[in-house]
Amino acid sequence: MDVSLRPVHDSDLPVYRQMNDPESSHLAAFTSPKTADRDLFEAHWKSIRASDAVVRTVLADGDVVGNVSVYGEPGEREVTYWIDRYYWGRGLATAALRQLLAEVPERPLYARAAADNVGSLRVLEKCGFRVTARASGFAHARGEEIAEDVLRLE
Ligand SMILES: CC(C)(COP(=O)(O)OP(=O)(O)OC[C@H]1O[C@@H](n2cnc3c(N)ncnc32)[C@H](O)[C@@H]1OP(=O)(O)O)[C@@H](O)C(=O)NCCC(=O)NCCS
Repeated sequence: MDVSLRPVHDSDLPVYRQMNDPESSHLAAFTSPKTADRDLFEAHWKSIRASDAVVRTVLADGDVVGNVSVYGEPGEREVTYWIDRYYWGRGLATAALRQLLAEVPERPLYARAAADNVGSLRVLEKCGFRVTARASGFAHARGEEIAEDVLRLE
């Protein structure tokens, strides 16, 4: 599939919201409580888009299939991404993250993934991130504290 990134359009937000299905949220684990409610979800994205985060919509053959971003405080900037479950396993997250990393020159960059989110850890590893620490935190989507890996890209 032809993967490309572009800035977020208002019309992408309803598509993003559909991606918050239970299986995807369980995998991501560290989700925002705000995504369940439509108004909170929209306010959440409004503040992300107004911040200094670099957020891109992922297109596959022209269709909106996810998003990828770099966000956070200087010196602690993290990457995150989300791909529609229908499109999993086709290399889209890896291609999207590679494109964002080519666009954003700042380093180091960090990432966090639930220790059992094998797909996400593999995406990060393929893009050059290395695990530097094991932490734990409350995973809203699972309602419990779980292990998470912290990764760094030099
Ligand atoms: C994690 C996620 C982004 C992966 O997206 P994707 O487009 O399927 O990833 P890719 O196709 O680029 O896969 C990259 C690698 O991970 C592997 N992989 C993907 N999902 C996997 C899974 N569930 N189990 C094992 N390996 C997996 C692929 O086989 C591939 O490895 P390979 O090239 O060695 O074969 C996607 O599952 C997702 O959006 N999940 C919900 C949100 C989320 O977890 N975001 C990350 C938060 S840290």
